[in-house]
Formats: sequence, structure tokens, C-alpha cells
Amino acid sequence: MSAATESGTFAAPAIRQKGILIGDEWSPAVSGKTFQTINPATEEVICEVAEGDKADVDRAARAARAAFESGPWSKMDARDRGQLLLKLADLMEENLDELAALETLDNGKPIGDARAADLPLAIDCLRYYAGWADKITGDTIPVRGDYFCYTRREPVGVCGQIIPWNFPILMVAWKWGPALATGNTIVMKPAEQTPLSCLRMGELALEAGFPAGVINIVPGYGPTAGAAIVKHPLIDKVAFTGSGETAQRIMADASTTLKRLTFELGGKSPNIVFADADLDAAITGAEFGLFFNQGQCCCAGSRLFVEEAVHEEFVERVVARANQRVLGNPFDTGTTQGPQVDKDQFDKIMGYIDSGSKEGATCATGGQRVGDRGFFIEPTVFTNVTDEMSIAREEIFGPVMSILKFSEMDEAISRANNTTFGLAAAVWTSDAKKAHKIAASVRAGTVWVNCYDVFDAAAPFGGFKMSGMGRELGEAGLANYTELKTVTVNLGE
Ligand code: NAI
Ligand code: MG
Repeated sequence: MSAATESGTFAAPAIRQKGILIGDEWSPAVSGKTFQTINPATEEVICEVAEGDKADVDRAARAARAAFESGPWSKMDARDRGQLLLKLADLMEENLDELAALETLDNGKPIGDARAADLPLAIDCLRYYAGWADKITGDTIPVRGDYFCYTRREPVGVCGQIIPWNFPILMVAWKWGPALATGNTIVMKPAEQTPLSCLRMGELALEAGFPAGVINIVPGYGPTAGAAIVKHPLIDKVAFTGSGETAQRIMADASTTLKRLTFELGGKSPNIVFADADLDAAITGAEFGLFFNQGQCCCAGSRLFVEEAVHEEFVERVVARANQRVLGNPFDTGTTQGPQVDKDQFDKIMGYIDSGSKEGATCATGGQRVGDRGFFIEPTVFTNVTDEMSIAREEIFGPVMSILKFSEMDEAISRANNTTFGLAAAVWTSDAKKAHKIAASVRAGTVWVNCYDVFDAAAPFGGFKMSGMGRELGEAGLANYTELKTVTVNLGE
């Protein structure tokens, strides 16, 4: 177990669960296969986890269907569903250090971030949606004639939930909160890179008292377990967070069963700094908005537009900040940057660093691997970046900042919008008019003004354009998990 110290080095947690959760039972895969999950800081194998595929997804879908259609969950009062979510949130809080350490072990993120960001946000999300459980209401509709017409918002049914590795436990909370508050059942597939915290959450959910079959977890790979979820006829909906390419595959695979789909995908979010901004704050925000979580954020501020007049000073100061980041053992509380999640991501990022230099950008700092064990990459800053370079167009998903220069607000807006993505954007300025003009003009699901990466369970999040479909969090997040039913009652003769 991890030591609950505020500073120093945390211990790696014990691994309690490596199986598949179906109903209220843990089992190996039907095939008997397992896969390795790796510690990205050391490249050592942490353990073998059951490798679910089509046969396991089928068992999970049947269990979820049965729990949805009969049994205690289907008859439970809404307020009691909310109580279960609150209980789960309490159990997470009681086991916060262990869950944070699991996240650090499997993903590589600094323990300080896992304890201060991932876990509190996940707990808050479950509590927020617990409060909605008994507040999902319909309308009465004034139709013509002697009829009483009303609507009910009913659960969609069995929800397939496929999540990525960058915020494993937070993605569990974003997906489970609204689905469970509204009375659905779940078949979840965690990412193959980071299954451990999700499996521990399954144990805590059973301990909280969720009935058998409400939450089923099938660890495994995308093209096998993931695709089986997308194609299964007993599953009504798929909620997915990950890459655009996989979302396109999912959309095609879901067409035969016409599943409801929600997607939270990548981005190339513009972070726009005007010369009249509080530069200290903007530099802090630019660093955090790009390097947080090793740059593995869908909303990373990866196109940093800086107004000409302050460009030189900004670059100098942001480079100094990048150089102060502390790379190292993610279990040390002083570490601010851990390794990238796996070899594939590491190679992808190094490829972009290479292309940045080849396409003519200036590598102002970083650009190299750190050490020869673990997937560590130096905080990297490119200057003299132009709009058509691949580092300015494609999602790098790593600690690589691209700085672009601009001189006019209208130019900044049109360049910010010159992308197929539309997840997030930020603007730094002391001029309220400019701030609101940018907020209204940038085609993105979230705009931060004089801040970055401010998340709240009550505030909707999601993408315009190829960054997604639907919104998560907030009241808007409930819409993905309910079907609207109209009931018309004859009151006449
Ligand atoms: P991915 O989209 O392939 O994986 C995300 C999840 O989808 C995983 O659970 C995976 O097993 C599953 N999956 C993969 N193929 C599937 C299929 N055919 N059917 C159903 N499920 C499937 O993303 P990957 O390969 O891990 O990362 C590639 C890039 O995607 C990253 O470099 C980054 O640019 C982006 N990405 C964006 C994320 C976000 O938060 N929006 C999160 C993770 C990755
Ligand atoms: Mg993939």
C-alpha cells in the first residue's frame, strides 16, 4: 500500500484485481489469454491482466441487459441510485492514496497530479451526478384535444463505454456518473495501457452496493474487445473517448445496430496571448495548458499564438519555465513531469519533434529522450512555427509546444479556426471586448479566458467539428444517457 505522506516518495500499490468483472464475479478471459501492463517509468511489466474479447463482451452484455431489465437496479428508486454513487465517491476518498498510486504506476503521471487533480475531480464528478439522480424530470405538454400528454426521460439501456489511458480514473467517473444516475447499465473497456485503476473501481463499486451486472468491466484490446462492444446487438449506446481514427471505425461498426454514439476526441487547441495580457499569468497558463499530464491532454493548448509585440519576451520566459520542469520518478512528490504512457506514444512524439525541425521550425529547448529507461521526453518548445507545418496541424499528444506569431485579432481568429478540430481554446488579455470577441468567434466547445484547463463537473465539455459529438459533464451530459418518451392519455369519452 502507498504511504500517505504529503512529501517524499510514495510506494507502488499492491495490485488486487487483474480479472474481468461480469455480474458480481471476477473471472479470467474465456480464451484464457492475458496481456501485460507496463510501468512506463521503468518499462517493467507490472502484471498480466485478463484479455477479454468477443466472448467476454457477450457475457458482459448479457449480464448488463439482465440487470437493466429485471432485478433490483431496474426497480430501484432514483434517490437510492444517487446514494450508491455517493457511497462510491466516499470509498474513493477513503482509498485515495491507493487509487492515485495505481494511476501513477500504470500511466506514469506524477503522484502529486494524481492526488491533487485526477482523484478529486473524479470524486467530485460522481457526487455531482449523484445529485441529479432524483432530478431527471419530464414535461407536461399542452396538446390539442382532450388528452393529457407528458414526457418521461428513461435510461438508454446498456451503455458500452470505451475509454483512453490519459486520465483513466477520471474517464471512469465521467462515464459512470451520468450513466448510473439515469439508471443505465454498463459494459466498460479500459485502455489496454492502463486497466488497473478501472478494475479497482469495479471492486469499490461492488463494495458500495451496486447490484450485480450494473457495472461490467472487460479489459482488452480495441480491435477485439472494443469492436465487440460496438457491434453487440444487446448494447444500445457507445460513449467513446480517444482518437478520431478510432471514432471513425466505431461509427462505421455501429451502423449495423444504429447505436447512439457520443465521442470526445482530439484537438489542436489555440491558446491566444495578446500583448496586453498579464504575462506572468499567461506564461504560467501556457506552460500548464501544454505540459500538464506530459502533454497527453485532448484539450492541450498546442497552438500557442503570441502577439508580435511580446513574442520575444514571451518565448524567452516560457522556455525558461519549460527548462525548470522536474522530470523523474513519478512517485516522487517533487516530480512535475513523468514518462509518456508507452512506446507507441513515445515514438509518435519523437517523430513529430523530428518533423518540426525538418519543416523549418526552431527547437528552442528540449527535443531529446531523457535517460534510456522509461519513456521520458524533455519539455520541448518550437518557435518560428507556421500554420502549415505538421506540428501546427496534427495532435502530438506530448510535451511539445509550438509557438506561432500573430499581429491582428482578426488574423488570430481566422488562423485559430483553420483546423478540423474544435475542442478548446483560450485567450489571455486585459481587454474584456477582445476576450468576448474571441470567445464568440472561435469554433470550439470550451473557451477559457485568462485561465486554462479549468474543469468542473457542472460545466459541459466536448468538441465542435472533428473533436467530438455530444457533450459530457453538466446537465448536458445527461442527454446522452436518456431516451425521451411521449405518453398521451385519452381523457375524453
Ligand atoms: P485509440 O483511440 O486507439 O484508443 C482509445 C480507446 O479505444 C482504447 O480503449 C482502445 O483500446 C480503444 N479502441 C481502439 N481501437 C478500437 C476499435 N476498433 N473499436 C473499439 N475500440 C477501440 O487511441 P490510442 O491509439 O491510444 O492513441 C492514439 C492517439 O489518439 C493519441 O496519440 C492521441 O493523439 C489520441 N488520443 C486522444 C485522447 C483524448 O483524450 N481525446 C485519448 C487518447 C488518445
Ligand atoms: Mg489505437
